[in-house]
Amino acid sequence: MHEQIKNINTLEELQALYASVFGKNGTMTARLKQMKNLDNDARAELNRENASLRELFKTRQSEIENAVLMAGLQKQKLDVSLNPIPENRGTLHPLTQSLSEISSVLESFGYTLYTGPEIEDDWHNFTALNTPMHHPARDMQDTFFLPNGNVMRTQTSAIQIRAMEKNGVPIKMFGIGSTYRKEMDATHSPMFHQIEGLYIDRGITMSDLIADIRAFLSGFFGLENIELRIRPSYFPFTDPSIEVDMKWQGGKWLEIMGAGMIHPNVLRNCGVNPDEYQGFAFGFGWDRLAMLKYNLNDIRQFYDNDVRWLKSAGF
Ligand code: PHE
Repeated sequence: MHEQIKNINTLEELQALYASVFGKNGTMTARLKQMKNLDNDARAELNRENASLRELFKTRQSEIENAVLMAGLQKQKLDVSLNPIPENRGTLHPLTQSLSEISSVLESFGYTLYTGPEIEDDWHNFTALNTPMHHPARDMQDTFFLPNGNVMRTQTSAIQIRAMEKNGVPIKMFGIGSTYRKEMDATHSPMFHQIEGLYIDRGITMSDLIADIRAFLSGFFGLENIELRIRPSYFPFTDPSIEVDMKWQGGKWLEIMGAGMIHPNVLRNCGVNPDEYQGFAFGFGWDRLAMLKYNLNDIRQFYDNDVRWLKSAGF
């Protein structure tokens, strides 16, 4: 019997054999029915035989089930020897990368990030910034006007106004965002990005401004010593106004940013008393700074979404 069970290879045959032994008319069933006629030793022997036979069936059943499972797995085996399709991993856009570097430097100086709408009203983009309707400085920026008199934001300076209106002074903030002007060549795109810093408190001076600009540029470019050139300039919302140049490799001076002490009219427009509070603002092209840092020469590449360019530029 034991040999017979071991030689069975399918569950069906095993079940048939099991039924012929333990079923209603099974051989073991018949013998168990006669148990009462046996002496004690013979009973014990029959019980042992009964138990060991059941055990044997159980063992063979799980052996067969296992073999069936293994055969199934063999058939489903994957061929992993094929060359994988090369993976195209994404990276952060260079502007996003540079923003996190810019933000971490400014935030370490205590500047808090603000944003504002890209479609601005005249008040925030111009008038509150001391640039009323017929002010000639409006021509400095080739503005896209919308039919209802709103504009596509020409400068992130609009965010300074919103920040002061919202949270008052003292304030130390930076604004980031897209800006729009009618211009287009290798260094100008009709949509570009600016970053703007504003610090208003009691007794803030021009030397605080220059110190922060210097610390920011040296932090962002990772340069211990930087050489700056401060030139007088004009912006309607700052007085005095300056333009900051930075000495680049090869001794070339590069124009980096505009800045100045906030004009008293701007403070008044935001409900701030200029006799009590003073401060500065600085603003620069975020794209331009990223181009300098990563050594890129055409601003339009930022917006082409050409993965080959991103790869070749090392991003
Ligand atoms: N908003 C100015 C521009 O777009 C830059 C600027 C910002 C100048 C803050 C002074 C202070 O040209």
